[in-house]
Amino acid sequence: MYENRKRKHYTPPSTTGTTASHPLSRNMQPPPTTATTSKKTLTLTPSRLKDLLIILSFLIIIYLLFSSPRPQLSLTPRTTPSTTYLTTRRHIVFSIASSSTSFIHRQPYIRLWYNPTTTRAFAFLDREVVDPTGNNNRSVIDPTLPPVIISKDTSSFPYTFKGGLKSAIRVARVVKEVVELNEPDVDWFVFGDDDTVFFVENLVTVLSKYDHNGWFYVGSNSESYSQNVKNSFEMGFGGGGFAISYSLAKVLARVLDSCLVRYAHLYGSDARIFSCLAELGVGLSHEPGFHQVDMRGDLFGMLSAHPLSPLVSLHHLDAVNPIFPKMSKTQALEHLFNGVNVDPARILQQTVCYDPVYSLTVSVAWGYSVQVFEGNEFLPDLLTPQRTFMPWRRGGSAEFTRFMFNIREYPRDPCKRPLVFFMESVTNGGKNGIWSNYIRHDVADCNRGYAMKNLELVRVLSQKLEPDIEQMKAPRRQCCELSPLFNGSMFISIRKCGADELIAMHS
Ligand SMILES: *[C@@H]1O[C@H](CO)[C@@H](O)[C@H](O)[C@H]1NC(C)=O
Ligand SMILES: *[C@@H]1O[C@H](CO)[C@@H](O)[C@H](O)[C@H]1NC(C)=O
Repeated sequence: MYENRKRKHYTPPSTTGTTASHPLSRNMQPPPTTATTSKKTLTLTPSRLKDLLIILSFLIIIYLLFSSPRPQLSLTPRTTPSTTYLTTRRHIVFSIASSSTSFIHRQPYIRLWYNPTTTRAFAFLDREVVDPTGNNNRSVIDPTLPPVIISKDTSSFPYTFKGGLKSAIRVARVVKEVVELNEPDVDWFVFGDDDTVFFVENLVTVLSKYDHNGWFYVGSNSESYSQNVKNSFEMGFGGGGFAISYSLAKVLARVLDSCLVRYAHLYGSDARIFSCLAELGVGLSHEPGFHQVDMRGDLFGMLSAHPLSPLVSLHHLDAVNPIFPKMSKTQALEHLFNGVNVDPARILQQTVCYDPVYSLTVSVAWGYSVQVFEGNEFLPDLLTPQRTFMPWRRGGSAEFTRFMFNIREYPRDPCKRPLVFFMESVTNGGKNGIWSNYIRHDVADCNRGYAMKNLELVRVLSQKLEPDIEQMKAPRRQCCELSPLFNGSMFISIRKCGADELIAMHS
C-alpha cells in the first residue's frame, strides 16, 4: 500500500498568506476557453457589444473595490525548486547490524544519535540477549535504545570466504527484513553497524539532494586504498553506513535471496549488497560525509580538514584514540555532540583566516579544533589532512599505507606543529550568534613567537548554518575575520564570503 502514497515533491509553505493553488503547481490546468463556442451562439450587434462593455466595466469596478491588495508576483526563481525533496528524520528508517554480545557494549555509540521520539531504528541481533543468570531477557537492554529484532535463520545460504564470518549473510539480509516490516512513510533505509555514529540532521540534508522515488544507493568507499582494492572503489562500506531509497530497497528485498547464493565467495555483507545492486544495474552515489574510518590512532588530521560536505557518519571509534584529549572515547564523542546539537551542518567545517599583524594563519574546524600556524600557509595545504593517524592494517606492503586522499606530513617535533586548540564549549546565543570556545592544548614546552606565547583561548562567533539544498549542490567555504589579539584571547568571526572575496594571505 505504501508504494501508492502520493507525498512527493516539497512544496514550501506559502509565504503570501493565500491558500490559492501554487503558481508552479503541476496540476494546474489552463482555464477552459469558451471564445470559440460562444461565437456560434452569440451574434455581436453594436448594442449588445455596448451592454457587454457596461457589464464588464461594472464587474471590474466591483472587483477593484472589494479585492484586497494582491500579493506581488515574484519573478525571481523560487528558493526551493522542484528538484528538492522533503525528507525529515521521520522518513528515514535505520537498521543497525549488531549481535547479542556486541549490542550491550555499543549502546553508548547508539545513544549518541538515536532518540526514541525522533529517530526510527531497529537493531538486528543474531539471538536474544541474556541476563547475568543466562536467561533470554530483553529487560537488560536500555529501553531508550532502538527495538530489537532477531534476524531470521540464514544457515541454508552458502558462505565460502576463508576466515570470514558467516554472519555477513545475516547482516546482508537485514535489508530484506527491514523492508518487510512494511513501515509507513519511509523515504530512505539507512544501514550501519552498532559502532557507527550517525549525524542524523546532516544525513537528512545530504539525502534531500536525491529523489527517494528514484533508485539511489548513497554512501562512501573506504579511506584505505587497499580496502577498496579488495572490495571495490564503488562499494558503499557498511561501517560508514549507506542509504538505499525506498523504491530501490523494495525491489532489492524481492530479489536479494536469489542473488545472495551467487556471492558466497565474498567477505562482508556490504559487498553482497553492492553486488546485488550491481545486478539491478545500480551504482553508488558517493557522498564524502560518510566515514568508514579504516584507520587507527589519532584522527585529528582527518577531522580538522573535513570536506565541504556535511559530516554524516563516523565508524570504528573503538579502534581510534578519543577524539578530544583527556576524555574517554565515549565522553569525547558526547563532547563533540555539544557542538553537533547546536549547529549540525557546521560541525568540522573548516574556515581559514590570516592575521596580517602577527603573520599568523588560523584554521578552524568548527566544534572541534583551531590550529594557529606561525607565518602564512597556503590554503590548499591547510585543506589537506595531516598524517596523524595510522593505516588500518599494520605491516605488509606499501599498498596498506595508502589513503584515498592527499596527505601532509605531521611534524614529529611537536614544536614544529601548529598550536592546537580543542573545543571547550559551544553556546547558542540565538540571534546573536553561536559562540564556540577552544582552549590551548600543549603537548610540549615550545619556544613560540610573541603572539602565540600567551594565546590561551580562541573564541569563534558564527551564525547557524542553515542547510540549503541548492547551495549544497555547489557548496562554498565560508570566510572568517580575526580581531586583534587581546589578553591571551583571539576572536574569530565566521561569515559568508563576499561575491569575489578570496581566502588569501595578506601579501
Ligand atoms: C530480567 O532481567 C532483569 C534485570 O536484570 C531482572 O530484574 C528480571 O528478574 C529478569 N527477568 C526474568 C524473567 O528473568
Ligand atoms: C584577561 O584574562 C584573564 C584570564 O583569562 C581574565 O581573568 C581577565 O578577566 C581578563 N581580563 C580582561 C580585561 O578581559
